[in-house]
Parts: sequence; C-alpha cells; structure tokens
Amino acid sequence: AMVEKGEYRHFMEKEIHEQPDSVQHTLSEYLDLVTGTAKTNTIDFAAIDRIQIVACGTAFYAGQIGRYAFEKLAGLPCDVEIASEFRYRSPAVTQKTLAVAVSQSGETADTLASLIWCKAQGLNTAAVVNVHSSSMARVAAVLWPTHAGPEIGVASTKAFTAQVAALLALAVAAGVARGRIDAAREAELVKALFESPRLIAEALTMGDSIRAVVQDLAKADDVLFLGRGAMFPLAMEGALKLKEISYIHAEGYAAGELKHGPIALIDEETPTIALAPLDDVFEKTASNLQEVAARGGPVIMIAPEKAPDLHGAGIRRIHAPDCHPLIAPLVYAVPVQLLAYYTAVQKGTDVDQPRNLAKSVTVE
Ligand code: G6P
Repeated sequence: AMVEKGEYRHFMEKEIHEQPDSVQHTLSEYLDLVTGTAKTNTIDFAAIDRIQIVACGTAFYAGQIGRYAFEKLAGLPCDVEIASEFRYRSPAVTQKTLAVAVSQSGETADTLASLIWCKAQGLNTAAVVNVHSSSMARVAAVLWPTHAGPEIGVASTKAFTAQVAALLALAVAAGVARGRIDAAREAELVKALFESPRLIAEALTMGDSIRAVVQDLAKADDVLFLGRGAMFPLAMEGALKLKEISYIHAEGYAAGELKHGPIALIDEETPTIALAPLDDVFEKTASNLQEVAARGGPVIMIAPEKAPDLHGAGIRRIHAPDCHPLIAPLVYAVPVQLLAYYTAVQKGTDVDQPRNLAKSVTVE
C-alpha cells in the first residue's frame, strides 16, 4: 500500500512522530508488560559466549548501543563492526559466537555478505531486520524482527529506535537466561523499557526549544556531538543525521576523548551538542562541557531539567525527559533527530531524498 505523509511536511517528520508506536510494537515482540518478563526462548543465550554484531550506517550505531547493554546486563562479550570491514579482513571467530546482523532493509550488500560468511563458518546467526521478507531474514537462523513499519525517509529514524528497542530487550532476555538478572531486576528493566514510548512522546514536545537553536546551528560549518556510555554511539548517530540531511560537517565523539583532539577545533563558530542524561557519568560530561565553554565554544546541553546548572558562559540548555538510564538512548534519539530535521528544513535541503544517498545500498 502507498504510504502517505498525511499532516506532515516530510516523511522523516512523520516517521520521527511514529516512534512511540513503533518502539511499543517492537518491545512487545520481546517483552511481556503484564508479567514483567522477557522472552528468553528465541535463542539459547546460555550456549553462546560472545556476540558479533555486523551492520552499516545507522544500524551500526544501534549495534553499538546494543553492545553496552549485552555486556552490562548479560556479561556477554560483544563486538560491533562495520560490515564492509568485517567481510574483507578475515576476522577470527570462535564457535560459540552468535553473529547478529542489524539492518532496516535486510538487503545491505556488505551486511548480508558478512552474515552469509558467518553462517558458512558454522556460527549461529540472527538478524534484527525491519523488512521481514528480506534476504537477511531468510539467511539468518533466527529472525529478530523490528516493527517500525515501512520507512520512506532516506535518513533512518524510527527504524533506528526500533533496532535499539529490540537490542535492549534482547539484552535483558540474555541477562535473565544467563542468570545475571533476577526476577525483581527483570521486572524493573521491563517496566523501564515500556516507559519509553510515553517518554519518547514527551521528547517529541521538545520541538519548540530545538527550533530555537537551529538558527545558529544552520550557520555552522562544523558541529561536535558529545556523549558517554550509550550516549557516545548516539552522538555519532546525531552527527550522521545532521551531515546526511543538512550537509553540515559533524562528528560524534566520546566526551572523554575531547582532550585528545577535538578540543583543538573549538571556537566561537563551532557548536557542541552534549547528550547528558542524569546517569553515573553526568558529572564527567558536565566538566567536559565547561572546558568547551571556557574556550569560547557555544554549548547546547540536552539534559533533564533537574540536572544541575553548569557554570560557564555560552551554555544553553534543552530539557529532555528524565528517564531510566537503560532507555536514555531511545528518549535522547528524539532531540538528536529533531535537531537534524529542523536544521535541514531551515537550510531548505531535500530532507527525504538527500543528495547522493540511497535508502538501501544493495551494491558495493
Ligand atoms: C544506507 C541508508 C542508511 C542505513 C544504511 C544501512 O546508508 O541511507 O539510513 O542506515 O544504509 O541500511 P540497512 O538497511 O542495512 O539498515
């Protein structure tokens, strides 16, 4: 069936607003809200000792967010690699490794080739895909579907958060199956995950405060995104979104790496966007932002209202919903997407069909 834009100006805007539903639908595939439990039977998580995720583009960043969760919640060593590197470098894999392809389309040539290679090595394989009839869905031994629905905008939004939701839920399932998470903790994490659709909806109301900063952002030649923990891959995703649709050069960095290079770029013209939920590394990120501000760099800090104010001229704040740290990548994905979207609209670019990009890269 034809997908229509309806009341929205662009498919990307529509897809951003569909995320409460697409995340809810995807979580329901893996978690039971009523019993507060995760489905642990999609794969034998006790029989594997490592996860190797392969993906490209936005799906690669979703994979990196998944990695933090698999290691923290399930004690499972997890590697994430860009598929075009993985497939050509003769990686060393061990037999108890589970290979996981993450892909919206299920057709990206490099990701598919990596999956086929892993299968030929005798590994167990799974595919987190949004198109359930795709090549990767057929090739993988286990299909881990996302339920984002058809995504038309070339810049991925709802497919990304659906991938993150699936991976976070699967990490909880893996933690339970491996005896790392007891019933009380499982119930807490499942409840936290099911709070994300409501908090994503709340984050969607941040549009006005985001529109207030894009005027300045649209004038920049370079933008730096900073984050720690799962906010680090989200910072890279934020930079990717901004460059894809607004053609502004942007980089995502681990905030702790600021001193090792990017701080040399800081001047009055280079905005820094910080993803700063109130987690156990908030203070560390805050001190990085003060270093940026002290060098005259404009800072936009996205953090909950109750987060402390930072000392330093030029630090602007955008309030994000307060949330459980596990779901911060889902909630903070929204301001990241809206920043890119409104900046592109401000610049007048072709938001849904950015130059030189394809929705699905099925040839190398
Ligand atoms: C292209 C798209 C991206 C997407 C990437 C991987 O570059 O423009 O939005 O993240 O391919 O696509 P996949 O379908 O494998 O997720």
